[in-house]
Amino acid sequence: MRGKFITFEGGEGTGKSTQLKLLSEYLAKKGLKSIPTKEPGGTDTGQELRRILVTGDKDKFDATAEALLYFADRHIHMVQKVWPALERGEWVLSDRFADSTVAYQYYGYDKRVSREDLDCLYKIAVGNFKPDLTLILDIDPQVGLARSFKKADTMAVKELRFEGRELAFHQRLRNGFLEIAAQDPQRCVVLDADKSIEDLHKDIVDVITERFKF
Ligand SMILES: Nc1ncnc2c1ncn2[C@@H]1O[C@H](COP(=O)(O)OP(=O)(O)OP(=O)(O)O)[C@@H](O)[C@H]1O
Ligand SMILES: [Mg+2]
Repeated sequence: MRGKFITFEGGEGTGKSTQLKLLSEYLAKKGLKSIPTKEPGGTDTGQELRRILVTGDKDKFDATAEALLYFADRHIHMVQKVWPALERGEWVLSDRFADSTVAYQYYGYDKRVSREDLDCLYKIAVGNFKPDLTLILDIDPQVGLARSFKKADTMAVKELRFEGRELAFHQRLRNGFLEIAAQDPQRCVVLDADKSIEDLHKDIVDVITERFKF
């Protein structure tokens, strides 16, 4: 049977990476093999694109260039990693996916890419395929950003290109993710991320159990 594709979305420091790891461990205990992955950078080529996308000056290129690079990364990711794993019956947990592109390049920027153009790029890169479930972690951006900056202190490569943007940008992102969830309530579940790591993990397990009936 084909595996499930679950995506983790939300702004900076909402706990996506932390929760993805915990869910992967939980699924392993249930005897389900899952592959943790991320965007950008889920493949070797994607790692090179990730460095270009998430480090350096925030204005080094515009929303259009970003969208094209993100979808190039996404297409490589789907073809080389996500689809083959799902075919093998493994679950794939992705730290960010296409909703992040819509949130950042459409809702986030003043000079944004149109929704039609993003939908068109999605069609080229991913076709009609969609995640089985998207978990949107929601938190006040000030709380999330504070977590991200604290974490970055210990990172060798500082992935802070987006954190450098103004608070209003991060507010627009948050609202963008909530709108995306409202537009696709079958696929998306919004979770309050302003709680302990353990409590949020429990909420995620509840969603998974209820959604996939095990
Ligand atoms: N519920 C929580 N409460 C307090 N701190 C948390 C919580 N979840 C994660 N953290 C801490 O906040 C930091 C950011 O968490 P994490 O890296 O999981 O977020 P993220 O959404 O992946 O962030 P980014 O967008 O920067 O990749 C980490 O140092 C993590 O340990
Ligand atoms: Mg992360």
